[in-house]
Amino acid sequence: MKDLAKKRIVITGGANGIGKAMVAAFSAVGAHVSFCDIDATAGKALETATENARFSKVDLLKESAVRKWIDQAAAIDGKIDVLINNAAADPRIDFQSMTSLQWDTLFARNVRAYFLTAQQATEHFPKTGGAIINFSSITIHKSPAAMEAYVSTKAATIGFTQSLARELGAQKIRVNTLSPGWVMTERQLEQFVTPQVKKMLKKEQCIPQLIQPNEIANVALFLASDLSQAITGQEVLVDRGWSHAG
Ligand SMILES: NC(=O)c1ccc[n+]([C@@H]2O[C@H](COP(=O)([O-])OP(=O)(O)OC[C@H]3O[C@@H](n4cnc5c(N)ncnc54)[C@H](O)[C@@H]3O)[C@@H](O)[C@H]2O)c1
Repeated sequence: MKDLAKKRIVITGGANGIGKAMVAAFSAVGAHVSFCDIDATAGKALETATENARFSKVDLLKESAVRKWIDQAAAIDGKIDVLINNAAADPRIDFQSMTSLQWDTLFARNVRAYFLTAQQATEHFPKTGGAIINFSSITIHKSPAAMEAYVSTKAATIGFTQSLARELGAQKIRVNTLSPGWVMTERQLEQFVTPQVKKMLKKEQCIPQLIQPNEIANVALFLASDLSQAITGQEVLVDRGWSHAG
């Protein structure tokens, strides 16, 4: 990962969960990190605790704020080398009671924001190229109920990645999807990971050990670095084999 030192890495939703683990991981290899979040308290605390990390409070639902933030991040070193679209929401909403506003808002947060950051960042990649990583999810392979909107946004991410990889290939910009399995972030542990869920994962994953945020960050390091220079337009599923459960 030596090639990542001093590279400008832009991460959305970096204040908590997997995003927070990525801010730490990229900083640890000497990269320069710009990250945004709506959670200013957690974002500022992480900025203080992390070398070469800059936090900005940005709501990814607001187009002008997103474009301004990307331009500001690019202005620091005169470029952006890696964009990581990580921020998303995963509400459980009963299908019959879901409103069209809830549907549209989730698409704006989980898909339109990825388009906005990518479009704006594309103006700032160096001639030598770069990488974009879009986060999808194991859920597109498991089809859970009450997550129709979320799973649809995550399937859209796969299509966006594939088409964008073709679009930006001529500029040597690689675009890949990183799909985590069920990851033991603080929020997942607080809200959804019951003893029954842990038991199920340990049984259904090929390797029972529960997935930690830093393990997803390690794969993001690989997809951002030149070590993965032959990989573009792909979905990399990081689920300890859960998708193969019988
Ligand atoms: N944790 C898992 O088990 C899991 C599984 C599959 C996929 N994923 C995907 O991984 C990514 C990260 O998930 P996570 O579990 O770390 O999530 P998280 O909820 O722990 O963190 C997401 C961060 O994004 C921020 N955010 C949300 N909306 C925002 C907005 N409008 N503007 C700016 N920031 C915003 C939140 O404040 C939060 O800090 C997501 O794309 C998620 O869909 C996670």
